[in-house]
Amino acid sequence: MTQPTLFVCALCKFPAAEAGAGDISGGQHLIDQLASQLEDDTVILQPVRCMAACDRACNAALSAPGKLTFIFNDLSPHQAAPDLAEFCRQYAAADLGKVPYGLRSPAIKQATAYVLPPLVAESLEGAIAR
Ligand code: FES
Repeated sequence: MTQPTLFVCALCKFPAAEAGAGDISGGQHLIDQLASQLEDDTVILQPVRCMAACDRACNAALSAPGKLTFIFNDLSPHQAAPDLAEFCRQYAAADLGKVPYGLRSPAIKQATAYVLPPLVAESLEGAIAR
């Protein structure tokens, strides 16, 4: 099975309510925190440059072939990494990436902006293979 990819915007600023961390952006700070939380290669951590939701920083998306895509916003650069890393592990283990709602942390429930179905072509490939 293909490793899921966690896309995180490296350019997102720190939210007004949070203090910065030196010269780095809020998104880069979150990426640095995630890198230490995801040392088990559960997912590919992929920094990206702007996800077009700059006023909802920090932004991230979790996706894998044949699985749901989760889009997150308003992630705290200082606090979101442990919950996001745990959700990545849950997602990697779950059929279709369908992590039961009751198993998601409050922070993940709050940050989930959108959930998209697997791409149709991927769904058809899966149906044909069965
Ligand atoms: S800078 Fe992060 S979404 Fe635009």
